[in-house]
Amino acid sequence: MRAARCDRYGSPDVVTVWDVPDPTPGAGEVLVEIRAAAVNFPDVLTVADKYQVSVPTPFTPGSEFAGVVRSAGVDVRSVEPGDAVMGSAMTGAFAELICVPEGALTPKPDGLDWISAAAFRVTYTTAYHALVTFGGMRAGDWVVVLGAAGGVGTAAVDVARRLGARVIACASSEERLAAVATLGAEVGVSYDLQDLKARIKEITGGGAQVVIDPVGGRYAEPALRALAPGGTFVTVGYATGEIPRIPLNLVLLKDLTIRGVELRTLAQRHPDAPARAQQALAALVSDGMRPLVSQVFGLDDVAGALTSLNDRAAVGKVVIALGGAC
Ligand SMILES: NC(=O)c1ccc[n+]([C@@H]2O[C@H](COP(=O)([O-])OP(=O)(O)OC[C@H]3O[C@@H](n4cnc5c(N)ncnc54)[C@H](OP(=O)(O)O)[C@@H]3O)[C@@H](O)[C@H]2O)c1
Repeated sequence: MRAARCDRYGSPDVVTVWDVPDPTPGAGEVLVEIRAAAVNFPDVLTVADKYQVSVPTPFTPGSEFAGVVRSAGVDVRSVEPGDAVMGSAMTGAFAELICVPEGALTPKPDGLDWISAAAFRVTYTTAYHALVTFGGMRAGDWVVVLGAAGGVGTAAVDVARRLGARVIACASSEERLAAVATLGAEVGVSYDLQDLKARIKEITGGGAQVVIDPVGGRYAEPALRALAPGGTFVTVGYATGEIPRIPLNLVLLKDLTIRGVELRTLAQRHPDAPARAQQALAALVSDGMRPLVSQVFGLDDVAGALTSLNDRAAVGKVVIALGGAC
C-alpha cells in the first residue's frame, strides 16, 4: 500500500509517500480501507516530536479517518467486511490501509460523506465534552471560543450554537472570523488587534459563562479574566505552543472553575460520557450538522496539509482524500 511516512522528526515537509507492506489484522483488530483522513494539530506535533507522546520513526502520521472495513481478525464482533466506519488512532491514518482495534471504530452516520466523516469525530467529540461534559454549558450562556477558526474551534462554535448558547468567536483576523460567522457565532473578536478581556466584558455585560481554549499562550488569561462569577474555563490544547500559567487568586476571587479535556483518556475517568456525547452528536448530525472543511489534499501532499495547520492558514478542517473520496 501507499503510505505517508515520517522517517525523521521535523517540519511537515519531512513527510513523504512510500510503498510499504499491507498491514494484517491480528486478534481483535480490523483492517480498514481509508477513504479520507483528517489532519489534526497533534499530527503536526507528532511529526515534530513535540507531542506529549513520542512516536518512534519511521511512522505513518494521521490519527483520524473514515473508510470501509476490508477484513477483521478473530474475536471481532462489532463490524464486518463492507461496513462504513469512522475511526481514530495514535498514528497510521495517512495511508491507503490501517489496522486498528475494533474499539477504535464507530459506524459512519448515513448522512455524512467520506470527507465529513473523516473530519468529524475528534474535533466534534472534543468540542462536545469541552462545552457540555466539563463546561456545563446551558442554553442562553455566553460561550467564548478561542482559536475559533481552527478545527476544535469551529466544532465548538457549531455545537454551542446548536445547543442554544450565544457564541463569541475569537481568531486572528477578520477574514477568519467571517468564516466562523457562517456557523452562527454572534460576535467575533480579533484577539491580536483588540483587548480580549475588555471586549468580552463589553459584549456580555457581566462576563461569559464558559471559555473554551484550544490555543493557550497569551490568550488564556484575558479570556479567563472575562468570565462571569461562577464561570468555567475549559483548557483543551496549546496550539500556540505555550502552556499558560494562571494566577490562582483569579479563581478564588470569582469562584471560577478550571477544567481540562483529554479525549484519549476521558473514557477511563468518565465511562458514561462517550456514549452520551455520541448520542447527542448523532442527533445534531441528523439535524444537518457538518464539519467545516476548507481544504482537501491528496495523499501525495500530506506535507502541504500539515503545513496549512502549522502556518495557521487552515479554516476549520483540512482533509486528505484517498480512493476517490472527493
Ligand atoms: N484535549 C484534547 O483531547 C484535544 C483534542 C483535539 C485537539 N486538541 C488540541 O487542541 C489544539 C487545537 O487543535 P485544532 O485541531 O483545533 O488545531 P487547528 O485547527 O490548527 O486550530 C488551532 C487554532 O489556533 C490558533 N493559533 C493561535 N496561535 C497559533 C500558533 N502559534 N500556531 C498555530 N495555531 C495557532 C489558530 O487560529 P488563529 O490564527 O485564528 O489564532 C488555529 O486556527 C491543539 O493543541 C490540539 O493538540 C486537544
